[in-house]
Amino acid sequence: MSTQLQNRNIILGVSGGIAAYKACALCRLLVTHGAKVKVVMTKAATQLVAPATFAALSGEKVHADLFDSPEEISHITLGAHADLLVIAPSTANTIAKLAAGLADDMLSATALAAACPIVVVPAMNTRMYHNAATQDNIATLIRRGIYVLKPAQGDLACGEEGEGRMPEPEDIFEFICALLGHPRLGYDGRTLLPPPTAPLEIGQTKLLPRAFGAGSKILITAGPTVEALDPVRFLSNRSSGKMGYALAAAARERGAEVVLISGPVAELTPPGVTRVDVKTAQEMLQAVESYLPGTQIVIGCAAVSDYRAAQISSEKISKGSEDELTLHLIKNPDIIAAVGRRESERPYTVGFAAETQFGPEHARLKLEQKHLDLIVLNDVSAEDSGIESDFNEVTVFDAQGEVAHLSKQSKRVIADQLIELIFRAAALYRNQG
Ligand code: C5P
Repeated sequence: MSTQLQNRNIILGVSGGIAAYKACALCRLLVTHGAKVKVVMTKAATQLVAPATFAALSGEKVHADLFDSPEEISHITLGAHADLLVIAPSTANTIAKLAAGLADDMLSATALAAACPIVVVPAMNTRMYHNAATQDNIATLIRRGIYVLKPAQGDLACGEEGEGRMPEPEDIFEFICALLGHPRLGYDGRTLLPPPTAPLEIGQTKLLPRAFGAGSKILITAGPTVEALDPVRFLSNRSSGKMGYALAAAARERGAEVVLISGPVAELTPPGVTRVDVKTAQEMLQAVESYLPGTQIVIGCAAVSDYRAAQISSEKISKGSEDELTLHLIKNPDIIAAVGRRESERPYTVGFAAETQFGPEHARLKLEQKHLDLIVLNDVSAEDSGIESDFNEVTVFDAQGEVAHLSKQSKRVIADQLIELIFRAAALYRNQG
């Protein structure tokens, strides 16, 4: 048995369309991949598939009656503890109830009380699907952040042909895997799902909608730090901040609240991002600590100076008669390691490793030493990639090994892909935590 969906609590809502029989295959797929599935049926659905079938497939009691177990008020408790509610098939009638906020049966009441994401998979006659009432209702659901899959084209149970068929259980399953955020699943490293402004085409459903980050709080460090030696000289590096700023923009576009703690760079602040300017590693650490409460994800993208002057000369260091000058440097605090090592309120922690040799080995070592959840390796010796460049090529590792390789693309595209991956992995981390 695969462990891809291990211990994820999924409610499978089944309403009364002929495609209800396909929900049996979906239920089985979810269960064999480790999910705990509870099936909620409408009365009409029970006319099409016996609840006993779903009970046998899920190994759980099937809920079809609002008053079947009044002692536990299951329409409230089911959705409160679930990771996802998937309604497949969703009839036009069930969609209308969801849009209107009705709660007159077990499924609609469960949906209304659900605290988890909801996926609606319409299946119906093509004229019912294209009816303005149904389309308006679907638009309402999408506006409220419900994921609606686009029905397939083809032969319909009524003998007609057209749009309205329920997508295949395997396709719905794949979307669920992507949505539930396993970093190793459903990630093809290329396509990005469009914003949820329209029903999602099968094939576009592999990656997460942009709104997935909505409400999460993310902190990103970016750019170089600058460590003064005297009033005019300093120690720093060639970091441009482009990668960190691209990550901030990508996270913000997906609805996250973003704090960008930045060393001196020439980049413009992405719209909607809170930028905090710092110069030294110590100032960066202080800023990170003060913005940390309530943060779910921290990404350390800054090229922090490893050392600073033991003493900053108050006067300009003048050229002496000696041919050599010795600088006394002391180690700076490791900012991302301080976050990774936190014992309480520890956010999902992501670091970067810019390496010129032994990349994977060094990256893995840093992942371990800094207590990171993910590390993004970029080979800074590669031509036109990494530091200062507009392009990047990265490999992502977690404690189990390589998670993804993102081939050379603009930093903005790499940032989109990294943020999708990080959000999904962080969601999983939170659910396990
Ligand atoms: O050890 P190294 O500098 O290669 O580690 C890189 C990672 O650690 C990056 O994520 C960087 O932002 C972070 N870092 C830090 N504080 C330091 C040094 C590095 O947060 N003092």
